[in-house]
Parts: sequence; structure tokens; C-alpha cells
Amino acid sequence: MKVTVVGAGAVGASCAEYIAIKDFASEVVLLDIKEGYAEGKAMDLMQTASLNGFDTKITGVTNDYARTADSDVCVITSGIPRKPGMTREELIGINAGIVKTVSSSLIEHSPNTIIIVVSNPMDTLTYLVHKTTDLPKHRIIGMGGALDSARFKYRLAEALEAPISDVDGMVIGGHSDVGMVPLTSHATRSSIKVSEFLTEERLAQVAADTKVGGATLTKLLGTSAWYAPGAAVSGMVQAIACDQKKIFPCSTYLEGEYGLNDICIGVPVILGKDGIEQIIDIPLSDAEKAHLKTSAEGVTKTNQLLDL
Ligand code: 2OP
Repeated sequence: MKVTVVGAGAVGASCAEYIAIKDFASEVVLLDIKEGYAEGKAMDLMQTASLNGFDTKITGVTNDYARTADSDVCVITSGIPRKPGMTREELIGINAGIVKTVSSSLIEHSPNTIIIVVSNPMDTLTYLVHKTTDLPKHRIIGMGGALDSARFKYRLAEALEAPISDVDGMVIGGHSDVGMVPLTSHATRSSIKVSEFLTEERLAQVAADTKVGGATLTKLLGTSAWYAPGAAVSGMVQAIACDQKKIFPCSTYLEGEYGLNDICIGVPVILGKDGIEQIIDIPLSDAEKAHLKTSAEGVTKTNQLLDL
């Protein structure tokens, strides 16, 4: 199993590290445009192999896509992260061109690959890859919901004063500060609906805190987060690599599902060896349906900024 991660910045390097530690891939190629940067990160990570107990080979390359050839999965993290006060959508001017070039270069050397887009604005850049490459839609996946759901579970566990392992929850919709849809009606603590433990007001606060989870960290860190994004996408790569048939909320191209068309947005899917193997249609409350519709309108508005 060969995985390529484009972008050796904080998110890309964290993703490569988590993939290596999970030890399901034979090789991770870490690629960056900055001379020597990916090579340095890869060497540093390889020097943790004996300490963290993995045999995965991490190879760093500078802008040499030939070295990514025949990758089973390619993760795109390249582009600029947001600064405090910025929205993810404001990154489109620079990141759209980068993701278009990167995806084309990856597919040239790995025509059968599955691409996972992390770069922001992620839903729109996933749509860009769908519109500018010949990859089938089940092999183009956007990572946002897995991260947002992890933040939702963090906030739920905090409110419940419960261990994270007792909590389950999912966020669908656009990966944006205003467009996320935390499914509070579905969230559980040990299979019990969280509404049995939390008031409507407290649940609303959990949802609100989840939606700005990224912005909260950007304000604290001065840049976008990296540990949880890296961990979220590494879990998706593992589900594909190990054909786990796990359900994740992923940004995927919709053709009528959830009443939405010609858009990439976060919905529950089954991830396995073929990428998105099935889109799961789940019952939504009227409020959740309305939020998803509004979220889709926001993503479509950002899509219209693309030069397609
Ligand atoms: C985040 O929410 C980078 O979009 C990513 O942290």
C-alpha cells in the first residue's frame, strides 16, 4: 500500500506520522515544493521508527511527482492555511490553483489513485478536482466531516463530563464555520441519546462550539490546527487501505442524494478499498434538513468563484 501526502507542512507531516505509526502502509511519500523540506521531515519521522515501532518507509521528495507513481491513495494538504479572523473560503484564490496543479500531477503518475482533499476551502476544492480531472466520483473524497465530528465528540464529552470513548456523533454539511451541521439528534452516550443528559440550550452551545472549532484553534495558534486534521485524514486513509467499510462523513459529489445536485459536501459514506463505496441516506430532523440546505447554498456560492 503506497500513500502520497502532498504538502509537508504541519497537517501533511502529522498525517504522514499517524499513517506510519498505524503501520498499514508499506510506503508514504511526502512531497513538498520547498527544497529539502519534505526530505527533512521524512528523515526526522523515520528516526522515530524504532521509538514508535513502525516499519512504514517515509520518503521525502521535492516536487518530484515521478516518485509518487502508483500511489493507492493521495492526500492533498498543500496550499496556505488560514490566519486568525480569516474564513476557509478566503483561501480559494491561492489554493484552487495549487490543488488543480497538484491533482493533475498526481493522476498523471497514479491514474488509479484515490484522492483525498484536505486543502481549504475543502468542499469547493473537492468539487474542483471532480470538475477538472477524469477520476470517477467515488475516488475523489474531501476530508472535513471526520475532523468536525471529532471536535463535536470532544465538545459533547466535555458537556457530558463523560469519556470520549462513550460518545458518538457526526457532523455533516460544509466544512465551514457557518455551514457545518452537527447532528445533535443522532448523538449518543453509550447508545443513549445525549438529549437524555443535556438541555437543548447546552446542546446548542455544543453545536455552536463545534462549528467554530477550527477558528477557535486558529485564534489560539496563529495558524490552522494540524494534529486533529492529520489524525482525521489518516483514519480515512486506513479505512481505504484496509478495506474497513467504515462510515465517515466525507465531502463527496452528490447527484440527488439529500436533495442536492452538482455539489461536493459532507454526508455519511462507507469508505473501503474503492474509496466511497456507498452514500448513506440517514433520517434528518426538519431543522437539520434546513441547515444542510443552507450549508449547500453556501458551498455552491463558493464554487461559483472557481474559474472552471
Ligand atoms: C480545520 O478546521 C484546517 O480546516 C481545517 O482545522
